[in-house]
Amino acid sequence: MEAKDGTSNPSSSTKKKSRKPKYSKFTQQELPACKPILTPASVILIFVAIGIVFIPIGLASLFASERVVEIVHHYDKDCIPLKYADNMLAYIQSSKTNKTCIRRLTIPKQMKSPVYIYYQLDHFYQNHRRYVKSRSDKQLRSKSNENKTDDCAPERYTTKGVIVPCGLVAWSLFNDTYKFSVNNKQLGVSKKDITWKSDQKNKFGSDVYPKNFQSEGLIGGAKLNSSIPHCQLSENCTGE
Ligand SMILES: *[C@@H]1O[C@H](CO)[C@@H](O)[C@H](O)[C@H]1NC(C)=O
Ligand SMILES: *[C@@H]1O[C@H](CO)[C@@H](O)[C@H](O)[C@H]1NC(C)=O
Ligand SMILES: *[C@@H]1O[C@H](CO)[C@@H](O)[C@H](O)[C@H]1NC(C)=O
Ligand SMILES: *[C@@H]1O[C@H](CO)[C@@H](O)[C@H](O)[C@H]1NC(C)=O
Ligand SMILES: *[C@@H]1O[C@H](CO)[C@@H](O)[C@H](O)[C@H]1NC(C)=O
Repeated sequence: MEAKDGTSNPSSSTKKKSRKPKYSKFTQQELPACKPILTPASVILIFVAIGIVFIPIGLASLFASERVVEIVHHYDKDCIPLKYADNMLAYIQSSKTNKTCIRRLTIPKQMKSPVYIYYQLDHFYQNHRRYVKSRSDKQLRSKSNENKTDDCAPERYTTKGVIVPCGLVAWSLFNDTYKFSVNNKQLGVSKKDITWKSDQKNKFGSDVYPKNFQSEGLIGGAKLNSSIPHCQLSENCTGE
């Protein structure tokens, strides 16, 4: 290869085509660069400046998070009557025991609306590979896909036909119910607006109604009302 120094010569096209890039400060890595020398004084100055910017942001976040009133109540053990204390499973599995449980919670600070309610399950392995996959998004999107249940085994069919929504995720829907009252006055609990609009509009079709769900054999959790489509499940619902 013919090597030529630095500057390129545009008139050299008659010669063998050179593969050397056209000269520029960029290709020759000659751009001016910033090479700061970090002296103790400049480092201190930089840290002080960063501190002045971020300490107020940190304080504001800290105070905002301190103002949150959160009450976590663990009711599973406390709700089991004393006489079943050494046989909790029998109490839970029996259909004859009264499982209504009344708990009194003390609220340490005024809770401003909206107050959100969550439930938390421990030792529930919802990220197990085979559990996560056991659902059919296609089926939930449109009624015409109701037979697309390939990923749903073992919860695909009953003797009456296909299960909608199929799969273990739906099958294990948690079914404890809650009511709240303050000074003997019942509070309404709304399930409205807890899902994304995009989920309601696109992910869950308005013509998809539950079908054959939790209706025979082993029952896994909550039941669904077969006259309410999936996309409305989290809309207006009061009480319980
Ligand atoms: C079940 O227990 C709750 C709370 O202790 C009580 O209010 C309710 O009357 C009981 N129900 C029955 C059927 O005994
Ligand atoms: C799903 O399969 C069942 C039984 O083969 C059939 O009766 C039903 O029409 C199918 N549904 C759709 C939407 O194709
Ligand atoms: C919740 O699901 C369990 C397990 O299928 C069932 O035994 C129980 O009766 C259900 N409870 C309610 C209130 O539906
Ligand atoms: C199902 O929903 C419909 C319409 O909202 C209601 O009329 C019906 O009582 C519900 N059925 C059950 C079993 O909750
Ligand atoms: C939801 O509430 C709105 C008004 O707030 C009402 O028009 C609508 O019928 C309700 N939908 C259901 C499914 O109850």
